[in-house]
Amino acid sequence: MATGLCVAVVGATGAAGQTTLRILEERKFPVRELRCFASERSVGKTVTFLDEAVPVRKVEPEAFRGVEIAFCSAGSAQAKEYAPMIVRAGAIVVDKSNAFRMDPNVPLVVPEINPHAARGHQGIVACPNCTTIVTVMPLKPLHDAGRLRRVVATSFQAASGAGVNGLDDLRQQSLAWARGEAMVPHHFQHQLAFNLIPHIDKFGSDGYTGEEMKLVNETRKILEIPDLPVAPTTVRVPVFTCHSIAVNAETDQKISVARARELFAAFPGLTLWDEPAENRYPMPIVVEGQDDCYVGRIREDLSHPRALNFWVVGDQLRKGAATNAVQIAELLVRG
Ligand code: A2P
Repeated sequence: MATGLCVAVVGATGAAGQTTLRILEERKFPVRELRCFASERSVGKTVTFLDEAVPVRKVEPEAFRGVEIAFCSAGSAQAKEYAPMIVRAGAIVVDKSNAFRMDPNVPLVVPEINPHAARGHQGIVACPNCTTIVTVMPLKPLHDAGRLRRVVATSFQAASGAGVNGLDDLRQQSLAWARGEAMVPHHFQHQLAFNLIPHIDKFGSDGYTGEEMKLVNETRKILEIPDLPVAPTTVRVPVFTCHSIAVNAETDQKISVARARELFAAFPGLTLWDEPAENRYPMPIVVEGQDDCYVGRIREDLSHPRALNFWVVGDQLRKGAATNAVQIAELLVRG
């Protein structure tokens, strides 16, 4: 008898969906049957899984009959429409969008940090925002050792965080620059090549963007510190893959640089990459393709006796999206 699970990937043609297929292969997730979905535009195309062409299907309730785990990375509006329907069909949904993250009935899970939260799911488990995941990975061991009091985080976010259209915009603009042509933005609000855009997601009336408020609210939910003060700034940078975050973390108990290095080195999913004398520190080109988040540039805050500055970089298509989602599914399968 065939073993393994019937797995669906919704958004299979997108940046996160494609990475999900690669991670399912790499981690040898027990897939008995794979069903791939995207928009109606993609019906007729195929995606590749374990060297086989898998047809892309249209999302409709009958297509989910028998599915046990569905990975959803098709955007928030689609998740709101599809996830309840997929759950009704009998599957557990691991959703990568913003649709359910702050719903008190939906666990928001980073498996290294709050695996216990997944146990209370009612059919949907949310995967946090990519910048939030990379930021909370080093915050967790600091919190366990010295209780976090305040976090200031400034992100440098890659184009692929905006999906295949974001990647394409940066690629086309870079090619246009090389040809001496005008760099026209099609996806981002402005030219991204050779530029920085301090605007990701919509502005709220208080001047913060949606992306910044995700970082605040999701960090509190994952770390289970509902009143943690978090000061966010999120910036799109002309990098293809990997989000980098400059973090200042204040704790109740002082944590020395040496202790922080030990804590980071011991935490699963983190790699300490901090040899400044050797010019060794995390950078997107070092971390691209890795599942760990890399942390370095660890310094005492010169302006505060109980705060540290550090720099963390994560591949947001992997740990920031697909790897985290597959790890959640592994947790659910293990029970
Ligand atoms: P498609 O390629 O057919 O547009 P990304 O985040 O990289 O932009 O990818 C978004 C993913 O979500 C793609 O696979 C895209 O499919 C899919 N998608 C977009 N709209 C829908 C929809 N209405 N129903 C199902 N999948 C969708």
